[in-house]
Amino acid sequence: MSGFPFTGYRNSVLCLESVPLDYIAEQCGTPCYVYSRAALASAYKEFDDAFGARDHLVCYAVKANSNLAILNLFARLGSGFDIVSGGELQRVLKAGGDPQKIVFSGVGKRPDEMRAALDAGILCFNVESEAELAILNQVAEEAGRVAPVSLRVNPDVDAKTHPYISTGLKENKFGVPFDEAEKLYTATRKFSNLRMEGLDCHIGSQLTELDPFVAASEKILHLLDRLETQGLRLSHLDLGGGLGIRYSQENPPPIPDYVQALCTAIGSRNQRILIEPGRALVGNAGLLLTRIEYLKHTPHRNFAIVDAAMNDLMRPALYGAYHHILPVAKHGEEEKNYQIVGPVCETGDFLGHDRTLTLSQGDLLAVMSAGAYGMSMSSNYNTRPRPAEVMVDGDRVHLIRERESMEQLMAGERLLP
Ligand code: LLP
Repeated sequence: MSGFPFTGYRNSVLCLESVPLDYIAEQCGTPCYVYSRAALASAYKEFDDAFGARDHLVCYAVKANSNLAILNLFARLGSGFDIVSGGELQRVLKAGGDPQKIVFSGVGKRPDEMRAALDAGILCFNVESEAELAILNQVAEEAGRVAPVSLRVNPDVDAKTHPYISTGLKENKFGVPFDEAEKLYTATRKFSNLRMEGLDCHIGSQLTELDPFVAASEKILHLLDRLETQGLRLSHLDLGGGLGIRYSQENPPPIPDYVQALCTAIGSRNQRILIEPGRALVGNAGLLLTRIEYLKHTPHRNFAIVDAAMNDLMRPALYGAYHHILPVAKHGEEEKNYQIVGPVCETGDFLGHDRTLTLSQGDLLAVMSAGAYGMSMSSNYNTRPRPAEVMVDGDRVHLIRERESMEQLMAGERLLP
């Protein structure tokens, strides 16, 4: 189970750090997201340490998991943040994040979100179009401020990942076209409330090879050099996120190798380096704990119907994503091939297909690698309150989000007069 740090069986019961998962189910109920503080902290340190003395900032991509306790943990470790909405800005500030370490990405920033970020004093806006430059300039002018800007450039590099999470191809909606970037940097001179600070790119997520990162970096660096010869001096380079994790048989590069490859590409240039990892920081630090409601054997298939569903963890339904599923208590009855499915009324509601497991009604299962894009993409479909979230720290268990109540779920709704 090398892909799942701080996870292992003790007396045949699966534990995260020193806490048996059946204890968490008893205390907090199921379904429930469970994260390891040690796994989160060690992933962050791996990124941070790998840069050595080079000037850098790790900006955790908040969208991967935006729980306040997780943001607070990263803030305490010195992390910066990559946000994509005014909501994420508020979360980071509430969690104690340093505004001077926030970069704001996204193709559709609204003027009110820009204003809030300007007022907070963020490090940089990663701007994705000419139209956005004009609006940001106007918002900054109204606020009597100068907005720090980096252009997100689309390097047209194939990230070799799932098409829904590939972002650096010229047909994708992200970034400004590579060939237009130089012209746009020159054009920004007319915007007196913008200050060009950086250059950035992000080519996709769950990348398991280094080549696309290196190819994208080289293109961006070439552009950086050309801009410098034209007298435009940028202070930072943001190479985005995207490093993959092991869900099944993938072999993504280790974090230090990834950082080393970026540093090698950058060579002796002395800009500050920013990266925006999300999944690689939190993905394998979390799991979704669920209980089997029913076993159902049909002539064609065996189903384990569990109390977590596609609304809690959307990745299998949305991307056909694989998540490893482990029994919390090992017991020695007969193995069968199971479809692990939720109670939602859709055939796409599954957490795992064709898993060979020994199961009994009432057993607990751990859906692994669920720390990234799990809770943050959850919904209330089928009027299902979202799960609780728990952080373990050694032998301690902290509830970091209560299970949603029906009252909370219906709070904003009104009957007709
Ligand atoms: N920076 C930007 C501008 C991004 O758009 C993203 C992710 C990241 C950083 C962080 O990427 P990471 O290091 O996590 O790969 N819901 C999908 C993943 C969507 C990723 C969107 N952008 C999934 O569950 O696989």
